[in-house]
Amino acid sequence: MAAASGTMIVVQNLLLLALISCAFAEGSRGRSLLAAPSETVFDVTKYGAEADGETDNYEQFIKAWVAACHSKTPARLLIPKGEFVVGAVVFQGPCSNSPIVVEVQGNVKAQSDFTEYPNAEWFAFEDIDGLHVMGHGSFNGQGKEVWQYNDCHKNKKCQMFPTSLKFTQVNNALVEDIHTIDSMGFHVSAVKCNTFTFRNVTVTAPQTSPNTDGIHLSRCNDVTITDCVIGTGDDCISMVRGVNNVNISKITCGPGHGISVGSLGKYDDEEDVKNVFIKSCSLTGTTNGIRIKTWPEGLPTKVVTLRAEDIVMNNVENPIIIDQGYCPSHSCKNKKVFGANNVSKLLLRIPPHKHLDVMHGTISYIPTNSGSNPVQIMQSQVHHKIVLLH
Ligand SMILES: *[C@@H]1O[C@H](CO)[C@@H](O)[C@H](O)[C@H]1NC(C)=O
Ligand SMILES: *[C@@H]1O[C@H](CO)[C@@H](O)[C@H](O)[C@H]1NC(C)=O
Ligand SMILES: *[C@@H]1O[C@H](CO)[C@@H](O)[C@H](O)[C@H]1NC(C)=O
Repeated sequence: MAAASGTMIVVQNLLLLALISCAFAEGSRGRSLLAAPSETVFDVTKYGAEADGETDNYEQFIKAWVAACHSKTPARLLIPKGEFVVGAVVFQGPCSNSPIVVEVQGNVKAQSDFTEYPNAEWFAFEDIDGLHVMGHGSFNGQGKEVWQYNDCHKNKKCQMFPTSLKFTQVNNALVEDIHTIDSMGFHVSAVKCNTFTFRNVTVTAPQTSPNTDGIHLSRCNDVTITDCVIGTGDDCISMVRGVNNVNISKITCGPGHGISVGSLGKYDDEEDVKNVFIKSCSLTGTTNGIRIKTWPEGLPTKVVTLRAEDIVMNNVENPIIIDQGYCPSHSCKNKKVFGANNVSKLLLRIPPHKHLDVMHGTISYIPTNSGSNPVQIMQSQVHHKIVLLH
């Protein structure tokens, strides 16, 4: 993609670029070593942000963003080294330059006053065509302060906790080399995004942290998620309604709940999930491997072509699980026997050493080092449609 090849050129010209970007960033706390000659660097500290680990810098961050976004020439928002406390921030587009670069060198920490997040979002990126987020920095959602108030395990209508990085209608984007730690709710979520790559994103939160999905996709097309290390308290990657053409590869997942499609069937007008390819991933110490889950009460949503190959699972409780009666809060009144889901084609390619048997149209799969329920197709009569490749 354009953003990626741009980076290569930038790296080749590193020395020259460093000199030029120093000129732009003069007097500020940090330097962007990667800014292109033509780029103007908008350093948040130039807009008054203080890396003192205390002051809430949301206004300064927004001011720097607005300046960068409205720049008619290539622009880079820089969060230099240091510890910045920030409350809810919306990086609103459309921007006058593309792709706009957000370089995060520092450690950004969420303001831990929970009432500061009216939209359940911490960093929201909206309506942007061409975005490149990079820079080896981190986003710490300070979730440890709020997880104890999450009651979603017993309350179906529970309040959503803030997502650390939420991308809405952001197209042609690359998010790479960043680290998200202890999100309050989801770590990263992309909604209505097209042509989006996540690369070398590290996700860290304890196994016990509630609803802290690593990367969540909803209504997105053409998404690549690769080379990511995800350890968290919920799904490493989750995909829901209207997700189409997703390539997931080289993911290390664990702890967590695995790679999931669903929950589906919660809303009446859901779009299908199509063409999900999961390749060369390893899952260790997770509750699930590959999972499809649907609520028992909704209308049918189909999963069309989910393919998983070369997946290594170690100490995974449910390596492959299709649960059509998903109801974690046990509050579903009409538990229909046949769920909303309709898995029309599930292709699983499992390495030969994993002992695969196909008997009478059902699957018995005994992974070498996994739990006692390797393949579970729960409350479903569609399992005869599953195609196994081996
Ligand atoms: C991945 O990101 C981490 C930290 O964000 C960085 O230290 C590492 O060098 C990156 N890896 C690659 C291959 O760029
Ligand atoms: C996913 O991979 C397939 C096969 O390698 C390729 O044809 C397709 O274009 C890829 N999709 C995306 C969104 O990169
Ligand atoms: C599954 O999909 C097929 C084809 O779209 C449809 O005929 C069938 O009724 C669906 N089954 C369920 C249980 O939704």
